[in-house]
Amino acid sequence: MSEAIVIDGQAVAARLRQGVAAAVEDLRSRHGVTPGLAAIIVGDDPASQIYVRNKSRACHAAGLGSFEHRLTAEVSEAALVAQIDELNRDERVDGILVQLPLPDAIDAQRVLGAVAPEKDVDGFHPLNVGRLWSRQPSLVPCTPLGCLILLRTVRADLAGLEAVVLGRSQIVGRPLAALLVAADCTVTIVHSRSRDPAAICRRADILIAAAGEPQMVKGDWIKPGATVIDVGTNRVVAADGRARLVGDVDYEAARAVAGAITPVPGGVGPMTIACLLQNTVIAACRRRGLPEPDLG
Ligand code: GUN
Repeated sequence: MSEAIVIDGQAVAARLRQGVAAAVEDLRSRHGVTPGLAAIIVGDDPASQIYVRNKSRACHAAGLGSFEHRLTAEVSEAALVAQIDELNRDERVDGILVQLPLPDAIDAQRVLGAVAPEKDVDGFHPLNVGRLWSRQPSLVPCTPLGCLILLRTVRADLAGLEAVVLGRSQIVGRPLAALLVAADCTVTIVHSRSRDPAAICRRADILIAAAGEPQMVKGDWIKPGATVIDVGTNRVVAADGRARLVGDVDYEAARAVAGAITPVPGGVGPMTIACLLQNTVIAACRRRGLPEPDLG
């Protein structure tokens, strides 16, 4: 069998960001609206700092307003919720993102529930979670949305396909399962208590790895010709002492078996921010009763 098609997330994300920039320019020139995204970051987790900085840069590049709120790790839950309330009321802000993880002393569910659902561009508010599962219009979590867009670049019709999602997180696994069910796939979630994950994965026409375990998925876990989407971004130190980023899939082995595969880096990663920008534009339009742009 020939080597897998490599799905270029960088290119797909760049096109989506261009579409967002055009939609933002249209909103500005025709309606005087500049969509704005506010990010709240608590503490000094280095990965979170990088994420939030990249988000701000992407907002500027696409013409969106960007607001950053940095709070110390010792901030009280009440003060954090008060900050969210202020942003809920701020007319310049269409999207609010609370960077995760939050410090242990803070109840993340209570905090995420404080974000106004119409500004919840992460799609983590219980109302948006419920809407997604009941197929009502909602704001959809960015990484799962990015996975689905990449999947559709190689598989236009997903109806009837066996999809296996590895991982049951609130950020990726669970919402992804909802999206795949809505796309008429037969969906299985594999998690840390599943029996024989390899055998379940081998049934998958579509395998989405979001377990956070470096190179957990081996070549013989993959059905020949399957589409493999790798959400993992794990920093590992090689024998030569150099750090590199690897996915949840053993890429070289998988590439020889799969029909299509996303690389790490350059696969799902760039899609998350592109989808966040898209959600912010959608939220800005819905809040004002404006038609939603077709971002392709
Ligand atoms: N931390 C890791 N991924 C995400 C994400 O998609 N949204 C937020 N808010 N925090 C994250």
